[in-house]
Amino acid sequence: MKKQLIAGNWKMNGSSQSNVALVSALAAGAANAQCQIAVCVPAPYLGQVQSLVAGTRIDLGAQDVSQHESGAFTGEVSATMLREFSTRYCLVGHSERRQYHGETDAVVAVKAQRALAAGITPIVCVGETLAEREAGRTEEVVKRQLAAVIHTNGHCISEIVVAYEPVWAIGTGKTASPEEAQQVHAVLRAQLQAATAHADRVLILYGGSMNAANAAQLLSQQDIDGGLVGGASLKAADFLTIIAAAR
Ligand code: 13P
Repeated sequence: MKKQLIAGNWKMNGSSQSNVALVSALAAGAANAQCQIAVCVPAPYLGQVQSLVAGTRIDLGAQDVSQHESGAFTGEVSATMLREFSTRYCLVGHSERRQYHGETDAVVAVKAQRALAAGITPIVCVGETLAEREAGRTEEVVKRQLAAVIHTNGHCISEIVVAYEPVWAIGTGKTASPEEAQQVHAVLRAQLQAATAHADRVLILYGGSMNAANAAQLLSQQDIDGGLVGGASLKAADFLTIIAAAR
């Protein structure tokens, strides 16, 4: 059976000092974990956290990647650069990137392609806003977002990780119920099945106010293969509780 993946998204948090304390505590507490573990850190800390996770159960992740390979793109970080730090995962299309940086489905699809070409597993984020959910458009929105990535990445699609993050549940303390989340995950699984014979291999994570109290129930759903954790990944005890709930 495939192992679940618990990935922390630190967002724009951390410091050289606090990173040492957090990662050391995670490494010690997760030494015997059943699941796969990753931390997606701000780009300036990739080198530091690469050293901190070396020889531990924790893999390194980035939070974004440029859609371009190299060149005059001030401020951007390429997939090849990320790979130099042994980056295993990279978030692409997080709703905060879509919302604040205007990333379109097409841009997200190319970013996933760049990551794959560099040997990095893209964690492709999809999810509906509250208005879209209330209008009954959840399925249509997540399917459109994933379709762009499938279209651009073809047979490589079985190499991605998908994260379903309802925008209304991010940082709000409101979680999708395990049944609501499972329903969307099943839709995404079916869409992957139509695109690849290896859809069962693809991990589909849930994200949005996952915490120490609600993780076990969410992670027990059939098509929930792990979690993408924001706020609770910054507290070692909470993140370790979520890791312990995963299989
Ligand atoms: P929270 O866990 O803080 O709601 O954030 C979820 C998220 O956006 C992870 O990528």
